[in-house]
Amino acid sequence: MNINTVKLAYFSPTKTTETILHDIAKGIGPETLDVIDITRSDARQQPLKVAEDELLIVGVPVYMGRVPALVGEWLNALEASNTPAVCVVVYGNREFDDALIELKEWITGQGCVPIAGAAYIGEHSFSDSGLPTAQGRPDQDDRTHAEAFGQAIVKKMHSVSAISQFAPIEVPGNHPYKGKTTLWDVNFIAVSEECGQCGICADVCPVEAIAPEDSSRIDEVKCITCCACIKSCPQNARSIKPGPVNDAQKRLNTNCKAPKKPEWFL
Ligand SMILES: Cc1cc2nc3c(=O)[nH]c(=O)nc-3n(C[C@H](O)[C@H](O)[C@H](O)COP(=O)(O)O)c2cc1C
Repeated sequence: MNINTVKLAYFSPTKTTETILHDIAKGIGPETLDVIDITRSDARQQPLKVAEDELLIVGVPVYMGRVPALVGEWLNALEASNTPAVCVVVYGNREFDDALIELKEWITGQGCVPIAGAAYIGEHSFSDSGLPTAQGRPDQDDRTHAEAFGQAIVKKMHSVSAISQFAPIEVPGNHPYKGKTTLWDVNFIAVSEECGQCGICADVCPVEAIAPEDSSRIDEVKCITCCACIKSCPQNARSIKPGPVNDAQKRLNTNCKAPKKPEWFL
């Protein structure tokens, strides 16, 4: 089978998933690349339909060992029909737990045929210069690995003449899925006087939890603690204040120091 069109779909508040997915696509080198960035809420309202002769690559960050709950609604509206698909999770050097198996099974239920899966490491959303975890990941080795994964996908696609010839792929994970899909409702962000109200934080927030006219007004029920606002602030005016997210930041910094390696499942 040839791959002419690749559809790249990802949710990626702090852009590590986005980076890895583009590197995989680079390794594939398709004639046509359609990018579907579902990070913003308006993009998640658009359902995606994929054809049998396209390759879908779906990427999500791991949240609490699972697929982020807000991606679920978009996944439920995905229409595929025997579409070859690749599932990718990116995690912050703790564990990816059941996120990859959950993503694989979710897209299978929507009509995809998963032909490959992978787990990559990205700088942890809660990482900062004071309490870093997986800082700078994906690094050059991760990105080279992702490109090689793209090449391995092409080789696998070329090895068959029909999608029915693929054996089902196995990825690690538990049934029932462990972990939880509810996040903290917590106001964990401190905003310093350096804030110039430029509005970038409100703009990058995937759930519109920040008031555009006052960046210190945060709706803690909407907030998914993704830290996109902190990492995108040009003044470094936003930081994690004491509380449960700061405690998690300290635990991660202590317990998740040893760099993990990306893995693919073909
Ligand atoms: C609410 C939340 C939960 C997370 N849970 C996990 C986890 O269970 N395991 C892990 O290794 N990383 C976890 N992370 C870290 C992200 O998976 C990681 O930083 C990822 O690279 C972020 O992807 P993005 O840059 O595409 O947003 C979590 C991050 C957030 C915000």
